[in-house]
Amino acid sequence: MSTPERSGSPRLVLAPQRLLLGALVMLFGTGCWEQWSETWWPQMKFQKAVQAFEQTGHPGADATGGFMPPEGAVPVGAPLDLRALSVAETEALVSPQPASLASLENGKVQYEIFCLPCHGPQGGGDGPIGGPPFGTGPLIGVLPIGGQFSAAKGLTDGHIFTTMTLGRGRMPSYRRIPAEDRWDILNYVRYLNGQVGAESASAEGATP
Ligand code: HEC
Repeated sequence: MSTPERSGSPRLVLAPQRLLLGALVMLFGTGCWEQWSETWWPQMKFQKAVQAFEQTGHPGADATGGFMPPEGAVPVGAPLDLRALSVAETEALVSPQPASLASLENGKVQYEIFCLPCHGPQGGGDGPIGGPPFGTGPLIGVLPIGGQFSAAKGLTDGHIFTTMTLGRGRMPSYRRIPAEDRWDILNYVRYLNGQVGAESASAEGATP
């Protein structure tokens, strides 16, 4: 008489446990449970990887996709971001690199790699790429930055450095040249304009 009741009640008690066991076996038995959801089972190996030139869409990212430092941060040893400065501020930049012989020698090497093709060996605007009126190449109107018609004589350090860094008009940006080398190039451009000796002479004259 009581047998059916006894055999019925243990089944009712066991059923939720079996369900749970079954669920756990299904969950862990598959061997790849961790791949079901990055959100539910975050793993260190699931990292966001930003590929070269990929736009992140991150609120702090600028148009080039890079992360900008928090506002007011002062990055140690980071290159100066000229785009963040006003024109007056870039004009007012002063070369931190004295026109030493080593600086001029490196400036000459860098100038001949990066600037000579357009501006010519003496800065006359007559490099192989520089076109009329000063050269015979395809790029018309390369400004002379040395010699008789030099446009660089009256320009400030900051102006020339910014021109190299950001480009200007039809001149492309040369920010891929490390900043120290750009300052060396500036010194060499000053040398081409006969301003290196003059500058140091006036600086010496100014000190009592
Ligand atoms: C692809 C050719 C090209 C190269 C390479 C080039 N420039 Fe220029 N540069 C130009 C042209 C073109 C101009 C005139 C820009 C304009 O106003 O349209 C110019 C103008 C300038 C000016 C005058 C800017 C002004 O405001 O009047 C300076 C200074 C200058 N370049 C420096 C350099 C230096 C230093 C380098 C080497 C790092 C260099 N350029 C490499 C084409 C070039």
